[in-house]
Amino acid sequence: KDKSSVSITVVGASGDLAKKKIFPALFALYYEDCLPEHFTIFGYARSKMTDAELRNMVSRTLTCRIDKRENCGEKMEHFLKRCFYHSGQYDSQNNFAELDNKLKEHEVLKSGCSRRNGGGDSVSVAGCKGRSATVTAVTAVTAAATADTPVNLNHIAKAAVTGGAIFRPSLKSRWGGRVSNRLFYLSVPPNVFTDAVRCASLSASSANGWTRVIVEKPFGRDFESSSALTKSLKQYLEEDQIFRIDHYLGKELVENLSVLRFSNLIFEPLWSRQYIRSVQLIFSEDFGTEGRAGYFDNYGIIRDIMQNHLLQILALFAMETPVSLDAEDIRNEKVKVLRSMRPLELEDVVIGQYKSHTLGGVTYPGYTDDKTVPKDSLTPTFAAATLFIDNARWDGVPFLMKAGKALHDQRAEIRVQFRHVPGNLYNRNFAADIDQATNELVIRVQPDEAIYLKVNNKVPGLGMRLESSNLNLLYAARYSKEIPDAYERLLLDAIEGERRLFIRSDELDAAWALFTPVLKMLEEKKTIPECYPYGSRGPVGAHYLAARYNVRWGDLGLEK
Ligand code: BG6
Repeated sequence: KDKSSVSITVVGASGDLAKKKIFPALFALYYEDCLPEHFTIFGYARSKMTDAELRNMVSRTLTCRIDKRENCGEKMEHFLKRCFYHSGQYDSQNNFAELDNKLKEHEVLKSGCSRRNGGGDSVSVAGCKGRSATVTAVTAVTAAATADTPVNLNHIAKAAVTGGAIFRPSLKSRWGGRVSNRLFYLSVPPNVFTDAVRCASLSASSANGWTRVIVEKPFGRDFESSSALTKSLKQYLEEDQIFRIDHYLGKELVENLSVLRFSNLIFEPLWSRQYIRSVQLIFSEDFGTEGRAGYFDNYGIIRDIMQNHLLQILALFAMETPVSLDAEDIRNEKVKVLRSMRPLELEDVVIGQYKSHTLGGVTYPGYTDDKTVPKDSLTPTFAAATLFIDNARWDGVPFLMKAGKALHDQRAEIRVQFRHVPGNLYNRNFAADIDQATNELVIRVQPDEAIYLKVNNKVPGLGMRLESSNLNLLYAARYSKEIPDAYERLLLDAIEGERRLFIRSDELDAAWALFTPVLKMLEEKKTIPECYPYGSRGPVGAHYLAARYNVRWGDLGLEK
């Protein structure tokens, strides 16, 4: 048994993100036996609250998955007993020192750890379902950990991996000590990031284990402010203590992207300019900025969705084969893609803003109808852009991005449009039937996760008629298990020290370097966004943008 403990402090515990995502994800991990045996959760915020009040607040956010109803109430009770609260200012070292004292009280471990009985502190083998260590791995780790001789971590790692376990030798070896690890989740506005990190690091760092901090966007508004933020965080933390979340990287189908490419023979050979005509990354929501416009007006859709979520997907999609699945190898490849991107031109960007619209007797408000938004706001709620990667693999292939709020549907997907079949035999004889039918691979991230490939197929019968049909992998039909929320995966990874799905500072710099010039030009020129009605398909300018590269948005066709 691992005798180390983990304390997870949610800084900004009374906020929306904490309630909607973080506490529910922590409970889901607890339910799945994914949290270490000795764990404690602390809420930290400015409002006064007792432990009981926090538990009451958290309990209202917890749910059990449909397939996990058994003992759910009991599990919730146990989980809530491990949740505590401390009220304090985000910039008060004293308040964080008080938190430190409370954390220490909970970190007292039940049994001693000596070198002889292993300690096990430095070894983390995920034991939860879906990541479970095999007996071989556990045995190897236990055997090594109980040996008298100094333990060779590489040896354990190898044994664990061979046994199918996930091994994270992220801690410095501390055999013989009791290890109390601490994770801080900063769910606070960006203007208090640095204060909170300073206080947590100076007054509430772990004395003998790791201290990690999860931060979530916005990481600045542009290249300069983001670099300044990174610099100020690094006064108190090493890069490997900072876990920058992009929750899209925790989504099941985004994680699957590399599996699809690198563990199937049939895709990777086609993954280049030779066969791919365009790649589209599409994000749309069928609701506006209701309730969040105060934050949103200072950022806009390019900073909110494109510079991070869509660009991260693009980097994963387009990267070269990494040397290994190690976090640094993957992030090295992603950063190369980002740094190979052609500077974005203003003429390759279209922006829009939704206006009030009445649909079926209901009037939906326009963006500027929100009281927290200035009437003359030029903040885009929609943007489309064409990007290029100037490297040998992707030279000349347009990567089209589209992101918008208050559109006609909700979706996030990747569409890969393949080239025409050269000298197509059937085109010669049946041109009318298959005029537009090039192959298209669609990876639907949400909703209704799916991967499907559009192929031309003969319509059954005596005649010869071709039609585009889908080869389908619908997750709901194929897998009975509910898909974990992205935050579950990311929190678990942060606890285990797995950095693969977190953004490294050079990736962040490269992402800002790409978008900052165009964001500045839009703001300096006071570019007026094209209006589109709430609930529509967005501004028509997006179609012209795609047409300029002889491409059609794939989400606009009728799908069978
Ligand atoms: C956030 C954006 O990062 O992602 C929001 O700030 C957006 O504006 C959200 O609504 C979408 O996330 P999801 O997981 O609901 O698709």
